[in-house]
Amino acid sequence: MVGKAIAGVRDRVFLVSKVYPHNASQRGIPLACERSLRRLGTDYIDLYLLHWRGQFPLAETVEAFERLRDDGKIGRWGVSNFDVADLYELGPRTCATNQVLYNLEERGIEFDLLPWCQQQRMPLMAYCPIAQAGGLLVEPTLKQIAARHNVTAAQVSLAWILRQDGVIAIPKAVHPEHLQLNAAASELKLDAEDFQALDQAFGAPTRKHRLAMV
Ligand SMILES: NC(=O)c1ccc[n+]([C@@H]2O[C@H](COP(=O)([O-])OP(=O)(O)OC[C@H]3O[C@@H](n4cnc5c(N)ncnc54)[C@H](OP(=O)(O)O)[C@@H]3O)[C@@H](O)[C@H]2O)c1
Repeated sequence: MVGKAIAGVRDRVFLVSKVYPHNASQRGIPLACERSLRRLGTDYIDLYLLHWRGQFPLAETVEAFERLRDDGKIGRWGVSNFDVADLYELGPRTCATNQVLYNLEERGIEFDLLPWCQQQRMPLMAYCPIAQAGGLLVEPTLKQIAARHNVTAAQVSLAWILRQDGVIAIPKAVHPEHLQLNAAASELKLDAEDFQALDQAFGAPTRKHRLAMV
């Protein structure tokens, strides 16, 4: 489906894909990448991520990623669902991003992972940024703030994520209206009063939390 969508506009698209941990070996990664390229109908992926940690040593996975990069099959590589200890183990490498669960209901990473990534200047990619359009979107505080700015609750939850340096949000949207609203959320500026109300409704973490995943 993505292959069909990007046909003819490949150079205007930033294409991200992931490799499963069971394929993340020296031998498995190039094969998995070739399969993805074939399905996507392209000859390179802009950013290729390890979906989560698995059985293969990180050094082996990274070496395979770097070979793909040197061969021009991928632009950059990164990781997903890595906590601080995993990133430490990864060491000072050229990891482009860490894609993790982050939204108003799941703020655990603010305690340690997010500051660590910001300090390392490693962009953090927030997945499920609107909490899969579940109960979050009808939460009263969020709805009030949305009404005050004449926007939607989903847009407030995206603007809240984008308030910080080095954080990217990747909402998934199929409906064109959702896509347009989400793109417009990058222009929305929340104020101190909004942030205070959101902190009261969705407390920031005061201790280390196990990294949440979906
Ligand atoms: N790395 C990982 O382990 C991992 C795990 C889970 C997800 N992800 C990635 O994260 C991305 C997003 O995750 P997700 O789809 O689970 O959650 P999400 O982006 O928080 O929520 C998606 C849902 O929100 C709806 N939506 C989008 N924009 C909206 C808007 N403006 N107003 C109201 N509803 C809106 C979508 O509807 P429509 O589609 O109908 O427009 C869809 O039902 C995915 O692309 C996925 O690849 C990564």
